[in-house]
This record gives sequence, C-alpha cells and structure tokens, in this order.
Amino acid sequence: MGLFITMEGPDGSGKSTQIELLRDYLSNKGYDIIVCREPGGTRISEAVRQVILNKDFTEMGHMTELLLYAAARAQLVEEVIRPSLEAGKVVICDRFVESSAVYQGIARGMGTNLVYEVNKFAIGDTMPDVTFFIDIDAKTGISRKKQQAELDRMERETLDFHEKVAKGYRSLAKMYPDRICKMDGNLPIEEIHKRIIAEADKIISR
Ligand SMILES: Nc1ncnc2c1ncn2[C@@H]1O[C@H](COP(=O)(O)OP(=O)(O)O)[C@@H](O)[C@H]1O
Ligand SMILES: [Mg+2]
Repeated sequence: MGLFITMEGPDGSGKSTQIELLRDYLSNKGYDIIVCREPGGTRISEAVRQVILNKDFTEMGHMTELLLYAAARAQLVEEVIRPSLEAGKVVICDRFVESSAVYQGIARGMGTNLVYEVNKFAIGDTMPDVTFFIDIDAKTGISRKKQQAELDRMERETLDFHEKVAKGYRSLAKMYPDRICKMDGNLPIEEIHKRIIAEADKIISR
C-alpha cells in the first residue's frame, strides 16, 4: 500500500504552495507521486465542481452541497486515489473529507458526525495516513488571495463564514490529534515545509 497525505486549511493558508514543495521533495527521493485537488481531479468530479462552485447557484441547499462534495470525492477515490495507493504510490490531495467536516459540518452547522457518516459511503476506508492542517486567520488567508481573478461561490461567503472555517479547523484538529498534524501558517514558507517533511519522513519510516 502507498501513502495517502492530505493538505487542509482555509483559503490562502498555503496548501498549494506546500503541496508543490512536498511533491518535489518526495519525487527527488524516488517516490511515485500523484497530486489531486478537491473538488475535482477526475472528468466527472471536475464537472461536479462546476456545479458546486458556480457563483450563480446561490440557492444551493446545505444538504445538496454536502452530497455534491461527497459525490465528487467518491469518483476521485474510485478512479484515482484507491488505484494509486494499491499501486504503492504517494497520493497528495489538496483538501479531502476534513474540508467537508469543517465547511459543511461546522461552518454550515450540519454536524461533523453527519458529515463523516455521509462520506463513509463515498470513500469507504480510504482515509488519509496523515492530514497536514495549515492554521491561519481568516483575514490573513483572504488578504493573501485578494490578487486572484474571480471568486467562486464558496470564496464569496461572508467573513463570518470564513472565520467559522478557521475556528472549525482548530476544533477538528483537537478532536483528531493523531491524524491531523497542525502547522502554524504564519511561519515562513520554508519553515512550514521543513516541518511537513520531518513529519512525512517519520510516517514513511514506520
Ligand atoms: N507561509 C506563508 N507566508 C506568506 N505567504 C504565503 C505563505 N504560504 C503561502 N503564501 C502565499 O499566499 C498565497 C496563497 O497561497 P496558496 O498556496 O495558494 O494557498 P491555498 O492553496 O491554501 O489557498 C500565495 O501567494 C502564496 O505565495
Ligand atoms: Mg490552493
């Protein structure tokens, strides 16, 4: 079996930045790396992504949102993640089930138990070996993303919502300290990278 790593945190926390650095580090060590992002990563999941993030779909219900994320995830697991792990590869995924636990479970108020229950149907036992959570204030994250072209349906949410997300990640990390490895997102990029590879090396060697 390969290794399944997920990167979590609010928008602008540095997930994409750290995934690129981790990918380079692990591929230099000779690992076969697959990087994917959520929602998306397959033809069908990308089509579902277009529905989820469409800024005109303002009437979308919370349950619909939860199920669409789970549907996109189910296809990604079946088509990419599970076969890659079975082939012994390292899979690094930009957001996974913990994003649903935080965004739909905590920030939308649906409850993390319900979210994990629904996602059990979508992913079975394909859970991350480790989840890196980059901790950042909502405001800092948003200001880092400001240069971006156009905001999607989720990014258009209120500051209050993004603050619930930032806090939600912190409580989730406290609930699952064994699986979720928290990093201070205010540190310089290189420092966070060093800490992530130290943890990754530890997990690989066991
Ligand atoms: N630790 C950091 N300190 C300062 N700026 C950062 C840090 N990590 C990332 N950034 C910058 O913040 C912006 C958002 O980073 P990104 O990796 O795209 O975040 P995410 O994928 O979590 O939304 C980018 O311009 C990136 O260069
Ligand atoms: Mg990103």
